[in-house]
Amino acid sequence: MEIQLWRSILCPYELAVRELMVKFEHIIEEHRQKDLYSPIEQVCGRVKTISSLLEKMQRKHVPMERMEEEIEDIAGVRLICQFEEDIETVASLIKKRADMTVKSEKDYLTHIKQSGYRSFHMIVYYTVETIDGPKRLQVEIQIRTMAMNFWATIEHSLQYKYKGDMPEHVAERLSKAADAIISLDKEMSSVRTEIMDAQISSQMQSNLVKDILNNIENLYKLSNKREVMKIQDEFLRVYETKDIQQLQRFHRQLDIISEGYRAQSVEINI
Ligand code: GTP
Ligand code: MG
Repeated sequence: MEIQLWRSILCPYELAVRELMVKFEHIIEEHRQKDLYSPIEQVCGRVKTISSLLEKMQRKHVPMERMEEEIEDIAGVRLICQFEEDIETVASLIKKRADMTVKSEKDYLTHIKQSGYRSFHMIVYYTVETIDGPKRLQVEIQIRTMAMNFWATIEHSLQYKYKGDMPEHVAERLSKAADAIISLDKEMSSVRTEIMDAQISSQMQSNLVKDILNNIENLYKLSNKREVMKIQDEFLRVYETKDIQQLQRFHRQLDIISEGYRAQSVEINI
């Protein structure tokens, strides 16, 4: 096949990966803006390289004309979570979406692979718009924790290095490491609420500071500079206390002041 054809086949898959990455990253953003804990921590994506596609087609005896149906991971998105509990939340989030239809699932969390691999996989149908009209594609979504991802990345490199012929002692080490990853995930889950609380507080503080500074900036346009300087100094004093309740109180007071100025400026304009 000509190189140009490969490129036009893979082009919609590139679009699917880019769109899905934006959408999943936006889920993180939406949670953060609303001071909520995000079950997704990080999003990665890739389109399979031509060489790895060829290798898989040979290995699975897939003819060229059946490639798009039978190779389900031409487009791949990986969603990394902090805790094992988040994986289920992310999976149900995907199931509820109107822009993806789940074709199949593989649960390597309850059915750990022989290698020690753990992850939750979903194959979804996703439609992209091309200049030739809509095209429905398959995308593989892998959902796993940061710890699972760490293990899988290293094991994958070793698999590549030994080309499927991994020495016994290396496989044994990896299997031990997989067990350690299971206990690490369990250990982290046991302090999950505490970690989540800390992260939400820090997010709340950063959103509050952003709102306050936005408000102060708007006040510059409406009131006299000296007064705004005083407000800014007061903000710095409250900020230094690192007390979120004081910051919230300051934020409310500032809202009232801003509201007053806005009302005044409306009166003047009338
Ligand atoms: P391939 O493994 O890609 O041939 O597809 P499959 O049809 O066997 O599906 P499977 O669910 O086994 O694997 C899909 C993907 O999951 C792989 O392409 C890898 O990215 C990942 N994966 C599966 N098993 C392992 C494993 O033992 N180690 C690592 N590191 N990754 C794995
Ligand atoms: Mg496999």
